[in-house]
This record gives sequence, C-alpha cells and structure tokens, in this order.
Amino acid sequence: MHAQQIYETVSSDFQAVDTLIKEQLFSRVPLVESIGRYITDSGGKRMRPLVVLLTANAAGLASDSVRRDCIKLAAIIEFLHTATLLHDDVVDTSELRRGRSTANAKWGNAPSVLVGDFLYSRSFEMMVELRDLAVMEILSQATSIIAEGEVLQLMNVRNPDLTEEQYMDVIRSKTAMLFQASSHSAAVLATDNVAIQEAMRDYGLYLGMAFQLADDVLDYRGSAEEMGKNVGDDLAEGKCTLPLIHTMKVGTEAQRNLVRQAIRQAGLEQLPQILEAVESCGALEHTLNLAHAYVEKAVACLDGLADSPHKEALAALARLAVNRSK
Ligand code: IPE
Ligand code: IPE
Ligand code: MG
Ligand code: MG
Repeated sequence: MHAQQIYETVSSDFQAVDTLIKEQLFSRVPLVESIGRYITDSGGKRMRPLVVLLTANAAGLASDSVRRDCIKLAAIIEFLHTATLLHDDVVDTSELRRGRSTANAKWGNAPSVLVGDFLYSRSFEMMVELRDLAVMEILSQATSIIAEGEVLQLMNVRNPDLTEEQYMDVIRSKTAMLFQASSHSAAVLATDNVAIQEAMRDYGLYLGMAFQLADDVLDYRGSAEEMGKNVGDDLAEGKCTLPLIHTMKVGTEAQRNLVRQAIRQAGLEQLPQILEAVESCGALEHTLNLAHAYVEKAVACLDGLADSPHKEALAALARLAVNRSK
C-alpha cells in the first residue's frame, strides 16, 4: 500500500479533520489567527490524525456520533502537535519548517511561544467538548510527558556523554508519546475491548519510536527541499542523537574525539568530517535497523484486529514512518 492509498482509506474523514482545523483557528486577535493559519496552511503530513482515523476505523466505529468524535480527536491532536512544533522551533532556533520560514524566523520568538500556548489551550477546549474523561486523561498526561521530553533534551544539549538509554527516553517522551496517545485515545473512543485498546496504545508507541529514529537519520541524510526543514539542525544545536552515539561507540579514537568536540561546540563547521565518520561507522544504517525493528513491533500489535483495509493501512503507515524522505 502506497502513501496515497493509506490516506484514501479515510479520505472523507481526513477532509473533515482539515475543515475542522481551519474552523477552530478563529480568534479575536489577528496575530493569533495569522500565525495559526501560516503554520497549518503549509500542511504537514498529518500523520497523527491519520493514526487516529485509521485506528478508530480498524477498531470498528459503532455510530456516526463516534465518528464525529474521532474527527474532533484527530484535530485536537494535530493542534497539540502544531503547538509543540512552534515551541520546538524556538528552542532549536530552527529557520525552516514545512518548506517555509519558521514562525520564529518570521515573527520572532515571543509570538511563536504565545501562539503555541494558544493552540494548546484551544485543543484542551475542544477536548472538553468530547466529555470523555479517559481520553482527557490520556491526552493531558501525554502533553506533560512531551514537555518533559523536550526539557530533558534541552538539559543534554552539548552533552556527548548522553547514553543510548537516555536518548531513547528523550525520543519516547518528546515524540512517541503523542503517537501513543493518538492510537490509544482513538481506540478508547471506538471500542470497549481493553485488549485492543492496549494493543493500539503499544502500536502508537512503537510507531512513534520508529518515526523519531527515522527523523534523526533524515537530519543527516535528508534533503532540505524534500523535508521542508534544514539538514544538520541537530548537530548545529549540539543534539546528541543515535547516529552520533553509535559513531562514538564503534568509531576510532579520532572519530570519537571529532564527534565529542562537535557536540560540545554545537556548530556545523565540522559537518563534512562528521558525516564521513557517521557513514564509515554505519551509524545511519544502525539507527534505521533499530527503526525497522520498532516497525515490526508496531505491526505485530495489529494481530488482534479483524482484517480490513484500515488495518492494512496501519501496517503500511508504520512502514512509511521509516521509509520516508519528508
Ligand atoms: C515533526 O513531526 C516533529 C517530530 C516529531 C520529528 P512531523 O514530521 O510529523 O511534522 P509535520 O507535521 O509533517 O510537519
Ligand atoms: C521534535 O523533535 C519533537 C517535538 C516537536 C516535540 P525534533 O526537534 O527532532 O523535530 P524537528 O526535526 O525539529 O521536526
Ligand atoms: Mg526541532
Ligand atoms: Mg529532527
């Protein structure tokens, strides 16, 4: 199943999510709307809404009212995601996002942070409308953990001694948690079957781990044109990700020292030499292999679902999380 076919299995619901996102950006303050529309109009892959809709459909949608709730849930989660992007680009001093200047590059840090807060708050307003405490619990816990993950990462900027375990903790918190919350909350809305709810929670977790591992490879190997964000942002920020951790682990002493120094300096001066070291140690392959292992774990979580095009699309989506260029 190709990317296009995955989206097509839920195309009308997906369209409804887009409409709802546009509707819910209203604000009496013009700058809030401008920045909100600027970042949402440039699209994004909308992978988390896709996870919500596919999960709900695969678990079985009992009624039109549950379907409407799932569409709202998908929009809520995309708002949460977009809020984290506005904040993340400030923290990471990134200049390119979704093929355009970041909001912080265009308007400055203060408006980006505040409009990020607005998107968070609007998503919680919409969450209350769902009147589902279990869903609120999942989403509110996830947002705390995401914030913790970003802070944990910040505390370790320019730290070449970050362990693989600590790195996995960071990516689980900052990224995988929202994917987990997406599939888990959708399953909670769609079915009372606790075994399916738990399996879908784990599907999201593993998918999210694979997704961030692939993102960290793309930061070294991707093309800015396709990704819509700059290559090398992680090194420029002194972020110690698995490609670097692995290079320091298996590389020569010279390679280890080169990488340690580059992380401490947090700059792109040494990028060509770093790339050479990373490639010669097979560190990107190593990271992708781990991502593929998570994809297989995610796919295995789908075993309990009845066969359907949506179940197939969930498996294809897990693969797409790793086999992507944007
Ligand atoms: C970017 O997420 C942030 C990460 C968790 C790596 P996406 O790659 O899903 O961003 P958009 O929404 O498609 O722009
Ligand atoms: C993103 O991590 C995680 C969140 C937005 C919470 P990154 O910093 O790696 O994401 P990109 O590369 O900027 O999209
Ligand atoms: Mg970033
Ligand atoms: Mg990244």
